[in-house]
Amino acid sequence: MNLRILLLPGDGVGAEVTRAAVGVLEAVARKFGHTLALSEGLIGGVAIHKTGSPLPEDTVNKALAADATLLGAVGSPEFDQAPPDKRPEKGLLGLRKVLEVFANLRPVKMWPALVESSPLKNQIVEGTDMIIVRELTGGLYYGEPRGVDGDRAVNTMVYTRREIERVARKAFQLARARRKKVTSVDKSNVIENSQLWRRVVTEVAGEFPDVALDHLLVDNCAMQLVLNPRRFDVVLTENMFGDILSDEAAVLAGSIGMLPSASLGESKGLYEPVHGSAPNIAGQNKANPLGAIGSAAAMLDYTFGLAKEAAAVNEAMGRVLDSGRVTADLKPKGAPATTEQVGRAVCEAL
Ligand code: IPM
Ligand code: MN
Repeated sequence: MNLRILLLPGDGVGAEVTRAAVGVLEAVARKFGHTLALSEGLIGGVAIHKTGSPLPEDTVNKALAADATLLGAVGSPEFDQAPPDKRPEKGLLGLRKVLEVFANLRPVKMWPALVESSPLKNQIVEGTDMIIVRELTGGLYYGEPRGVDGDRAVNTMVYTRREIERVARKAFQLARARRKKVTSVDKSNVIENSQLWRRVVTEVAGEFPDVALDHLLVDNCAMQLVLNPRRFDVVLTENMFGDILSDEAAVLAGSIGMLPSASLGESKGLYEPVHGSAPNIAGQNKANPLGAIGSAAAMLDYTFGLAKEAAAVNEAMGRVLDSGRVTADLKPKGAPATTEQVGRAVCEAL
């Protein structure tokens, strides 16, 4: 199979972790007889420096031409004072919208080797295995009107029935292949938008009689995630709640550096680790590449239908974790391994 992939390393540690993930994709291609057609583009702060825009047209065209995009990270402290429109993050938000990747999947799974790295007690986190399905192209992130007018600022939370239905269906379909339970998260005791969300999700549940649905208010969900993470199978929520809850859930599993994500629409796929650009360790060969490598595995699975290859990468990651030759964010046996060493170890384990 010929895999047409756009690489967008972006800012901070993005370049390092993307390089490691590409190494793994090359190893997969060799082992399973595929070819890679890689292109590369600019996004985020590096794109602002070189072109003036966080999402140059060239990048949009390349993303539309590729089957899937692998992104490193965007964001840099030098843009902290810039308005939302001129920030690196705007590039990522624009790309999600252009590709219409409305469902962002963030699997949170406790790897046995990482139980000691979790901030929670072992008996609470052991066996945690959930997937957060975050709506990605609507809600507060995109709603109009928006803006700052002197001492008054406005953002708008808007969802339509169609936007809720399509992401809800994705969640129920995923649940069918898992433990058949969807927890929908909203704030329907306060926000009208959440009342529509709850009503539409309940209707969609009618199409999936074999899947159980429950509803949690977002504040309660934040609490249940640390009290009883095993209760969750598929968590379905809107854009901003999903952004916040997925960072919380990520650390349960040991380190945010471990968390992969897949953003899916009707046709294109965008894959990125959940961690950010981590400017404090950028360029030091210290970042954990397993979130990016896991994202590459998700790409093999969801975009290319290469389940066997994806499973092989995940198994290889498990073996590397068991070996204890991991980066400093986890609990390495001995001196922490570098980004490059972890990437190479995954290739060797393949
Ligand atoms: C994420 C990030 C992004 C988001 C930022 C970088 C725009 O935090 O993917 O979770 O808020 O969606
Ligand atoms: Mn986030």
